[in-house]
Amino acid sequence: MNILGIETSCDETAAAVVRDGRQILSSVVASQDDLHGRFGGIVPELASRRHVATILEVIELALQRAELTLDQIDGIAVTKGPGLIGSLLVGLSVAKAIGFSRKIPFIGVHHIEGHLEAALLSANGPPPYPFVGLVATGGHTSLYFAPQRGMYHLLGQTRDDAAGEAFDKVAKLCGLGYPGGPAIENVAVNGISEAISFPRAMLPRTYDFSFSGLKTAVALWVREHGVPSGQTLSDLAASFQEAVFDVLIAKLFEAAETKETPDVVVCGGVARNERFRTRLKEEIQKRDQKLWIAPLALCTDNAVMIAAAGTSRLSRGESDALSLNAQATMPIALG
Ligand code: KG4
Ligand code: ZN
Repeated sequence: MNILGIETSCDETAAAVVRDGRQILSSVVASQDDLHGRFGGIVPELASRRHVATILEVIELALQRAELTLDQIDGIAVTKGPGLIGSLLVGLSVAKAIGFSRKIPFIGVHHIEGHLEAALLSANGPPPYPFVGLVATGGHTSLYFAPQRGMYHLLGQTRDDAAGEAFDKVAKLCGLGYPGGPAIENVAVNGISEAISFPRAMLPRTYDFSFSGLKTAVALWVREHGVPSGQTLSDLAASFQEAVFDVLIAKLFEAAETKETPDVVVCGGVARNERFRTRLKEEIQKRDQKLWIAPLALCTDNAVMIAAAGTSRLSRGESDALSLNAQATMPIALG
């Protein structure tokens, strides 16, 4: 079954073709970093206009690289939310138009379910159920308990900034570019993570997160000491990211312990960070647990994860009607 995935929830225009939910025939991601970089964050209106300009070309390229035509596509999976409403509408409208005109069933996919499905495509195969999953992106930081495929119980989420958002804001404070995650990671490589003591909001008795206090602590540090450079910048970046990872790791393993599962899944843009991946692997070894982490290319937004997440429902003959609407916020489907 060949599924065309379409993802335009934020600032990446992406299309992919995935066969039988696991075999990636093509994946095209057109980044808008060049457009938003000079603003230090995403400008929603510019994002949707760029999606309109690139989406058809991106889909054509995905089909070309998969060496398929639309006649060989069995279903279309498209992100329906959450995300920037103008951006979401571009992908959804195109999916509907292609589906309607070519009589191809289409299905709307929850963006976060897509991120979790990316970890199911990890090199060591899909994880067994149940598992505890951490999603750490620029828009979300949430912990889920997944008792079976397509069923996700929310255990906790951020009360303010998402982890990736904290990276982006701290990068901006330090005069680094957007997106902030890779920029912070690059300078942190030469830094000492104990150099500056930043707070860790552990929030006892809940699986919720909070990163705004950490961001404020960095802002206060910059106000007091000035914008860092050289070794000081590296030390600040390393100290900041270690504080983020300490919290993410503590909550993830606490949730796994409470839910009595050795299997943990990690996904989302922040999971691209090599220091985070290394720390996760160390923790897993210490505890004799098992880790399923999204492949590097599938951590940040892409359409493979959307196609993979839509495959099981499309293969059961399910589809959405043309009345399906995009939603900026939406709880994840509980299956
Ligand atoms: O999953 P994603 O592409 O988009 C959302 O759904 O939000 O994640 C983007 C986020 C950005 O905040 C970016 O700074 C962060 O992921 N990110 C990273 C790294 N690469 C991307 N954070 C830390 N380290 C990285 N290497
Ligand atoms: Zn995302």
